[in-house]
Amino acid sequence: MRSIELGTSGQEVPNIIAGMMRIGDKTDVQIRDLYAAAREAGVNYFDHADLYGFNVPEGGYHLCERRFAEALKLSSAEREDIIVQSKTGIIDKPWGYDQSYEHIVASAERSLKALNMDYLDVLLLHRPDALVEPEEVARAFDELEAAGKVRAFGVSNHTPRQIDLLKTAVEQPILINQVQLSITHSALVAQGMTSNMTTTGDAITRDGGGLVDYARINDITLQAWSPLQKGSEPGIFLGSPDYPELNAEIERLAEKYGVEPIAVACAWITRHPANMQVVLGTTTPSRIVDAAAGSDISLSRAEWYSLIQAAGHKLP
Ligand SMILES: NC(=O)c1ccc[n+]([C@@H]2O[C@H](COP(=O)([O-])OP(=O)(O)OC[C@H]3O[C@@H](n4cnc5c(N)ncnc54)[C@H](OP(=O)(O)O)[C@@H]3O)[C@@H](O)[C@H]2O)c1
Repeated sequence: MRSIELGTSGQEVPNIIAGMMRIGDKTDVQIRDLYAAAREAGVNYFDHADLYGFNVPEGGYHLCERRFAEALKLSSAEREDIIVQSKTGIIDKPWGYDQSYEHIVASAERSLKALNMDYLDVLLLHRPDALVEPEEVARAFDELEAAGKVRAFGVSNHTPRQIDLLKTAVEQPILINQVQLSITHSALVAQGMTSNMTTTGDAITRDGGGLVDYARINDITLQAWSPLQKGSEPGIFLGSPDYPELNAEIERLAEKYGVEPIAVACAWITRHPANMQVVLGTTTPSRIVDAAAGSDISLSRAEWYSLIQAAGHKLP
């Protein structure tokens, strides 16, 4: 498993991490098997959110965090061995966003209770809040950090300017921006290559402009969520009849490198020089092992470009 430095923290972390959004309806044994497979494959970084579990029947906020704790019953030594990240800021009833001081602190404390842990390694602001007051975020981060409840901070789905706005008050480094990125949902990288062209919709700026370059310039680690999803429609592109050329190219490369197709999908993300992390969402232990095999593959430039073009992006 290849590791990268998490932002400017000096901490080495794996470039493939395990998302826990889909464990809400899994049994203890299924969660333990998934965790064991992840650890065996070198994945010691687990991504949660207060929200995860809200869409499970009879579920609700903090369900996935609670199920993680109930199923694993981690010893304090094992807790120290892993990196646990959670997120705050999405409200479901009514749907909206809340980065107020009160909400951030209360939600992080509820996450700790659900996880049965004393601290989060990382807390992310899940989605931008149009009504954000950077001073309130700063107060919440300072208080959580001073109490030893959160060790590091980041954001998710934020534009460069939104991060700059937070930085007017927040003193802790913003280590992470977690964003949607897969070969087929790749506007973040396609935009820069098609900038100034009217021949392709990829030229449209959807990220506030230069999000990937901003992250590289400012040493912010990008975490790619939903690395297998087609795009805005549900479902994954692997094996999908909607992407025959892409799947043919993925299979060719999988055979070349002696891995499963899921590893090639991950390698396309980790090959990017921004040193991104892939946030896998699978709940199938064998898939996490297969995906982790992509961590060390360094696709050639020709291979990387052939994949993005096979996904339908037209380069000028
Ligand atoms: N920051 C954000 O706004 C945000 C938003 C969404 C998600 N996330 C994070 O990103 C993580 C990953 O998201 P995701 O779950 O959408 O990612 P994903 O890894 O793209 O998708 C996982 C889904 O694909 C299925 N799958 C994987 N390989 C498959 C195959 N070969 N054939 C058929 N199905 C396959 C999995 O099923 P099985 O489980 O049955 O293997 C699972 O349902 C989440 O857990 C969460 O931590 C963050």
